[in-house]
Amino acid sequence: MATHTRYTGLIEHYRDRLPVSDSTRIISLGEGNTPLIELHNIPKLIGKNVKIYIKYEGLNPTGSFKDRGMSMAVTKAVEDGSQAIICASTGNTSAAAAAYAVRAGIRAFVLIPEGKIAQGKLAQTLMYGAEIIQIRGNFDEGMSLVKQVIDHAPVTIVNSINPFRIEGQKTAAFEIVDELGRAPDFHCLPVGNAGNITAYWKGYSEYAKETNGIAAVSSNTPVMCGYQAAGAAPFTAGKMIDNPETIATAIRIGHPQSWDLAWNVQKESGGWFDSFSDEKILAAQKMLSAYEGIFCEPASATSLAGALNDIATGKIPEGSTIVCTLTGNGLKDPDTAIQQCTETHPVSVDASLDAVKKAILDNM
Ligand code: F0G
Repeated sequence: MATHTRYTGLIEHYRDRLPVSDSTRIISLGEGNTPLIELHNIPKLIGKNVKIYIKYEGLNPTGSFKDRGMSMAVTKAVEDGSQAIICASTGNTSAAAAAYAVRAGIRAFVLIPEGKIAQGKLAQTLMYGAEIIQIRGNFDEGMSLVKQVIDHAPVTIVNSINPFRIEGQKTAAFEIVDELGRAPDFHCLPVGNAGNITAYWKGYSEYAKETNGIAAVSSNTPVMCGYQAAGAAPFTAGKMIDNPETIATAIRIGHPQSWDLAWNVQKESGGWFDSFSDEKILAAQKMLSAYEGIFCEPASATSLAGALNDIATGKIPEGSTIVCTLTGNGLKDPDTAIQQCTETHPVSVDASLDAVKKAILDNM
C-alpha cells in the first residue's frame, strides 16, 4: 500500500536547509512542490533532440513563485516581531505579500504602478485586503520609495532584497535536483529584479556542494540563462534603463535590485542574458497553451522564448536537458490572453440541438 506523507510547505520540507528553529512559527500556505512537466509536443515541433522540462510555479497558492520567498520572509518577519510588511510590486509580489500577511495576522502595504498590473493580481491583492498604494510611476520608482520609507515607518521590506526571500526561493532548485536526480544542463528564467535567478543559483550551488545529500545529487550545476523583454532589458543593455516597457508587466523593470548578484550568477555558471520582443514572448506563451496545455502569464513565457531561440541557434546544443521556469499562472493576466485569441473567438449559436450539432460537425 502506498504511504502518504502530508506535504505542508517548503519550510517544513527543507527545514534543515533554511533559517528556522524548532520554535519558529511557520507561516505557510502549502507552497512549493510544484510540478516538473516534460514537454512532449514542442520538441517534436521544432525537430530537436532536447529534453525540456517546465517548472510550473503558477501552481503555488497565490499563483506565482513569489510564495516560496514570501513564506520564508513573512515567517522571519513574524519571528522578529514585525507587525507589518511592505513591498513594491509589478503584481505578483503584492499578491503573495498580502496573502501571507493575512495568514500571519499582520498587515501588508503594497506599492503598485497604477494601471500597469494585470487584473488577476489586482483582484487577489484586493481580496486579501492589503493596503494598496497605487503610485503614478513605475515599479522602479515604487522600489526606491519603499527603500526610503522603511526608515520612517515600522514595516519590514519583503522585496527580494530581503535575504529570506532568496532563501525560500532557492528551494525550487532543490526540488528540481531531487526530481531529476541531477541538475539540468541549462536553466532558463525570466529576469526582472533578478532575485529569482540569484535564488536558483544559490539553491543549485548549495546542493552541488553536498557530498551526502538525500538524492543522487550531481556535482554539476546548470548554465543559467536569464531572459528579458526587449523593452525592459537592462542586462542585455549592460546598464540600468529608465522607462522600461513591455506587455509582460511582471518584468517591466529597468533598475534590477539584484544587479551585481545576477552578473555573478552569469559569470559563475557560464551563462548569459538575452532579450526578446513582446511578439516572441507572446508566441511562446501561446505555444505552451496550444501545444502542451500549459497556461502561464506573459513574463513567464520569456523563459521558453529564450530557450527555443538558443536551441535554434545551437547555443543550447542537442542532447541537453533544459528546465524553463514558468513563474506565474496564466490566469493572472486574462486580458492579454483574450486579446491574443481574436481569431479563435468562441462561436455563438442558438440553444438548440441542431445548432450545437452543426457547430461540432462543421469543425471536425
Ligand atoms: N516572472 C514573474 C511572473 C514575476 O512576477 C517576476 C517578478 C519575474 C518573473 C521576475 O523575477 O524579479 O526575481 O527577476 N515580479 C516582481 C513582482 C517584480 O513585483 O511581482 P525576478
